[in-house]
Parts: sequence; C-alpha cells; structure tokens
Amino acid sequence: MSNKPIYVTQPYLPPLEEFIPYLEQIWDNKILTNNGPFHKQLEQALCDYLGVEHLALFTNGTIALVTALQALRISGEVITTPYSFVATAHSLLWNNIKPVFVDIDPDTCNLDPDRIEEAITPQTTAIMPVHCYGNPCAVERIQKIADTYGLKVIYDAAHAFGVQYKGESLLKHGDLSVLSFHATKVFNTFEGGAIVCPDARTKQRIDYLKNFGFADEVTVVAPGINGKMNEVQAAFGMLQLEHIDEALKRRLEIEARYREALADVAGISLLPPPPDTHGNASYFPILVDDDYPLGRDALYQKMKDAGIHGRRYFYPLISDMPMYRGLPSAMAENLKHAHQIADRVICLPIYPSLLDEQVDAVAALIAKAK
Ligand SMILES: Cc1ncc(COP(=O)(O)O)c(C=O)c1O
Repeated sequence: MSNKPIYVTQPYLPPLEEFIPYLEQIWDNKILTNNGPFHKQLEQALCDYLGVEHLALFTNGTIALVTALQALRISGEVITTPYSFVATAHSLLWNNIKPVFVDIDPDTCNLDPDRIEEAITPQTTAIMPVHCYGNPCAVERIQKIADTYGLKVIYDAAHAFGVQYKGESLLKHGDLSVLSFHATKVFNTFEGGAIVCPDARTKQRIDYLKNFGFADEVTVVAPGINGKMNEVQAAFGMLQLEHIDEALKRRLEIEARYREALADVAGISLLPPPPDTHGNASYFPILVDDDYPLGRDALYQKMKDAGIHGRRYFYPLISDMPMYRGLPSAMAENLKHAHQIADRVICLPIYPSLLDEQVDAVAALIAKAK
C-alpha cells in the first residue's frame, strides 16, 4: 500500500472531460443561476431518481434547513438530537427557536422515540430528527407522536441520499426532509442541498423563500434568503447522477468488507444493520469498548500516525458547545447514551475510490493495535 494519507472521505469526481460539454452549454446560453435549465433538469431528475414528488434545490444543506423551518413557520421549541453535525441545531437558532435535546437510541444513534413525549411542552411546535449515518429514524413512531400532539416533523436527511426504507424512499417521511450535497456527501454538487416536500404548494412557498421572497417581478411575500443553487452546481449534479449507482455500489462493498474484517475484533462494536433498509454506506462508524486494548482517542491517534484519518463523528456533542450547553436539556444526565456513543465512536474511511487493500489495512491496524 502507498503511504499516501487516507482520509475519512474523498469527494466523488467524475472524469473532468465529461463535465466540459455541460460547461459549454452554460457558456452558450449564458444562464448562470435563477432557476435555469440545469436547475430545472436536476430537480426533475432527482425526484425521479429518489422516488419523491417534489424537491427544491439549494445552495447548501444548512440554508435548506433554515428555510425548511421558515416554510412551515416553526417557532418556540423544537425537539432534536445532540448527536449530529452542528448545522442541525444552528438552523434552529437562526430561526430564534429553542432546541430541546433528547437522548439517542444507542443501536441507531438516532432520536430515541421513547424519550420524545416527555420533552414536549406547550411551546413545542416540531421535531427535527436526523437520519444519522443514513440509518432510518423510527419514522412511524415519530409520526404517531407528531400526529398526537399536532407537531410538524422536519428530517435532517443530510446523510440519507438514496436510502430506501421498506421499499420506498426514506425521504417520503415527515413533513419535509432536507438533503446536503456537500463535497463529503454520497452525492455531491461541490456544495448543495435540497428540501424534499410532498406537495406543490409547499414547494412553491419554499421556492419563494429561497429567492428573497419574490413571488413575481414586483411582489415580495416573505423575508426570503438567497438560497438558490447555481447552474454549474446543477449541471455537475446531472453528471454525478450518471455515476451515482456505481458510487453507491462500491460504498456498499466497502461496508461489507469492513463488517467482515471487524466482526470478531475484541473490544470493537459495530452498529447493527438497520432493519428493512437498503442503505447508502455513507459512513462507517465503529465503537471502541472498554475491553479494547486502547482508549478511543489513543486508537484515533494511532490511526492518524499511520496516515489513516478517521473522524470522531459526532464528538463533541452539539449540547456541549458553548451556545447550547446552558440549556436545561443539554445536561449530561439527560443525554447518557449520546455521551456514551460520542466518547467511543470513530468513523472509518469510506468512499468509492478506496481500494480493498486500503480497507484491509485499516481493519488490520484496528485488529492488531495494542
Ligand atoms: C447531519 C447534517 N446536517 C446538516 C449538514 C449541513 O449541510 P451543508 O454542509 O450542505 O450545509 C451536514 C453536513 O455538512 C450534516 O452532516
């Protein structure tokens, strides 16, 4: 194996020459943004590929999250997970909404549905769960709670591109689902994102909001933002779609190879494969137990010294960050499982161009470390 560093991910890039004809079209028609031809094509192509009804493209996933909350006029308190990327909770603060953290189920790393009801107050208006690592949340249980209490559900589905649950797109659950097409994600447009929604009226409102609130040339219906995806991003998305099946297939092969190689390593636990799910192998988390010869951070460092750059996703917890740690729901006693997992997790490198020999080398280092 070469001594080149192996990072936790590497963006998927199709051959450069395949992108040139797309750029030529943009140069010819001189439409660079504002719902141009590639933007329209990509919205339709993604609906078809993902098996969803409506989708609004965005410049990135974070602006899409902020806008999703605006579109449904969410306010007051929102129940969410501390075990995620900071953008989940930040999107709430950008809307002056108070995040209420609820503990996770250690088998899925997603919001524990048994803990949601006790966190509901008269101010609660919505639940924002995350399909962490692309593993489905307890979508039926969460919907039942939302229906009972009259709450909206907005999924942060940044990790869930292409995931099928019970034979259908996972993105069909909840009132809205938000995707990220950031460089590190399974499907990338350099930066990018989308809101998936079930009906045309909601998409219309989202489209106003992502374009400064313009409903027509002279009518502004809301204090919207500039969240539009540009034509270069959208054209790149069209090209990426030609390669996505291949990229997902390779990710799943790597996941299977890691699972086999690490299954019997004492002191290393893997998350159980989620039931009824065709996943996307967007991440490969391992948990370092007490009976492993090294602590989590020592293993993380040992890997790094060998040029293998895993990442401690998600450590520290969002609830431990300065802008959140004062909230009553951020107290460690409230979030025991989230703390246990955050203290034990390392995500291993996984991306389509990772070679079998590199997967084997990562697994061998973990199996032999002392
Ligand atoms: C769970 C989660 N939510 C939100 C985001 C934000 O998406 P973006 O980087 O596209 O703004 C990310 C990743 O970056 C993420 O992992």
